[in-house]
Amino acid sequence: MHKFTRTLVTSALPYANGPVHLGHLAGVYLPADIYVRYKRLKGEDIIHIGGSDEHGVPITITAEKEGISPQDVVDRYHRMNQDAFSRCGISFDYYGRTSSEVHHKTAQEFFLDIEQKGIFQQKTEKLFFDRKAGRFLSDRYVTGTCPVCNNPEANGDQCEQCGTHLSPLELINPKSKLSDATPELRDTMHWYFPLGRFQEQLESYVQGHEDDWRSNVVNYTRTWLSQGLKERAITRDLSWGIKVPLEREEALGKVLYVWFDAVLGYISFTREWAAQRGESDLWKSYWQDPQCRLVHFIGKDNVVFHTLMFPAILLAWNEGRQRDLYNLADNVPASEFMNFEGRKFSKSRNYAVYLGEFLDKFPADTLRYSIAMNYPENKDTDFSWQDFQNRTNGELADTLGNFIKRSIDFSNARFDGEVPCDSTAEEWNALGIDWLDTLEKLDLAYEGFHFREAVSLGMDIARAANRFLTVSEPWKVIRIDREAAARTMALSLNLCHALSVALYPVIPETCNSIHAMLGFEGRIEDLVTSGKSLYTELLLPGLKKGDKIRAKSEILFTKIEDSDIAPELAKIAGLLAEAEKRDAGVAESRMEFKPGISFDDFLKVDLRVAKVIAAETVKKAGKLLKLQLQVGSVTKQVLAGIAKHYTPEEMVGKNVVLVANLAERSIRDEVSEGMILAVEGDDGRLYVVEPGGNEINGKQIQ
Ligand code: 2FM
Ligand code: ZN
Repeated sequence: MHKFTRTLVTSALPYANGPVHLGHLAGVYLPADIYVRYKRLKGEDIIHIGGSDEHGVPITITAEKEGISPQDVVDRYHRMNQDAFSRCGISFDYYGRTSSEVHHKTAQEFFLDIEQKGIFQQKTEKLFFDRKAGRFLSDRYVTGTCPVCNNPEANGDQCEQCGTHLSPLELINPKSKLSDATPELRDTMHWYFPLGRFQEQLESYVQGHEDDWRSNVVNYTRTWLSQGLKERAITRDLSWGIKVPLEREEALGKVLYVWFDAVLGYISFTREWAAQRGESDLWKSYWQDPQCRLVHFIGKDNVVFHTLMFPAILLAWNEGRQRDLYNLADNVPASEFMNFEGRKFSKSRNYAVYLGEFLDKFPADTLRYSIAMNYPENKDTDFSWQDFQNRTNGELADTLGNFIKRSIDFSNARFDGEVPCDSTAEEWNALGIDWLDTLEKLDLAYEGFHFREAVSLGMDIARAANRFLTVSEPWKVIRIDREAAARTMALSLNLCHALSVALYPVIPETCNSIHAMLGFEGRIEDLVTSGKSLYTELLLPGLKKGDKIRAKSEILFTKIEDSDIAPELAKIAGLLAEAEKRDAGVAESRMEFKPGISFDDFLKVDLRVAKVIAAETVKKAGKLLKLQLQVGSVTKQVLAGIAKHYTPEEMVGKNVVLVANLAERSIRDEVSEGMILAVEGDDGRLYVVEPGGNEINGKQIQ
């Protein structure tokens, strides 16, 4: 195994077009912070780099909606998110922004290097152009009717109603979101990054990490690799972004694709961090020294950008160089998602709890603890107010807080605020904890990104300590055996110290309060002694006979009353009711009849009975089945949005009703030469109309 001497941790850069919510915190920022704090505690050389992703279409759309400039949007949310992270104790060494000059230069430098090596390809494609607005329209700026489910408000990249991924060219009646005008197709040239050129190198890179990366990360990446990596456009026709740094006419009005620039932000921000420290070359020891380990914390939706795209960009830079070579990530601990009260967080539907707002009401450590306990390491998890209240009251206040307070208060009241004696190894072991084993497990859990396990192990120590104090009853024993009570209190105070170290990465402010109550000067961060293990250096020395503790305890956790979370529960109920109403609205709109048509109009529809002779699913279009239909002596291919309701095998052999003269359409690079009739049953599923009689929910349909 490679021996690293320092670590560079990056956290995904959130788009600066909205406030970060608890889902973001759970997936990326809290795990990264726990990891970094743990390593710092061990005295390791580690830095944590993050910042705002300030380019991309969502930002310009927000700006247009609000009638402000994109710069105003990113200024607002950069500040808001940086502030929320800092209040939550996310200890970045540097929090940058991709609109900075250093970043623009870094990204342009990469572009030029790869361009000069002749690695990029240039391709002309057809793109919608809004003549009224005088602009090319990227996917998100086009809306129209979904070719799969007929939703009239599908987006150019995806239909929200049926989930199908679309290209704007597939939309029926496309409209520009800027002017409502029907856009026209125009040629436009773009730079493409040929990911395929790096296929072999990336395969062996991923192969080398199959055992140490999480299986979700390996699987997502492998799926892409197995389909063969294709070239990806890395420029866009937009005004907001990093200009393509070429003095040629073809580069006019073009900016770098947001993902090409965002991942490079990690490098720019490390440069800025180094410059700020007055050691402008220091960033190189984190990016270009093979002794440094690079770790990216991200959510699962960002995997391939970090396991394929970014490594490929770095490989392109490294190509043909003998020095200044960049390291590729050693690990990419991508999380699954944390849901909220049983549903996915949704910024657009405002179904979220925003970090800043949360911290206005509850302390950061209560949130950090609850989220660490719900860390979506390898499956989606759920955050609920009830769970948050139970954990805060039962685990933090009643167990941890109660133990600390009783230890400090009783030592103050009966032992003059002094550690009455030293604790022996036998006394430590009599607690029933195998310390060596626990500390090794704790280390493996923190080091291996198993944060739920780490915090649970810490809480197990708190439970054992609380039990020990309760069972030992020093407040009774002291009346007959002061020496025995003294031994109990000495061990209890040492356990307070052990807990303050073991749980520090998760609840740092609380642990620093415990640290201060135990009479230590300075903060836990100052305990760091380079190269020593947590066990020997930080846990065992603890407190010795005669050490003075602070005369007064403080309340570590205030219990959360039902009345504290009642408004939050009411808000959720409101949001859920809205969602239900929306769903009902969709159902009701289906009951409205469309405007009448003439008999002659109806006669234009050529309905035929056809037999399904073959059926298969369509790649990347989870809703679609590709059917081959026999109509007399003719075969027609039809794409039908029924894959959720029928398997290909079930369809083969069925007689169906075909609209045979519908204009041909192209969906997902496949042609559809008609449409088959299906109706929706009361149960919400689609039933294909089968001539010869068929049933819906046991009822015959006509
Ligand atoms: O998904 C997102 O929110 C992106 N802004 C993440 C970017 S991560 C990195 F590449 F910068
Ligand atoms: Zn649709």
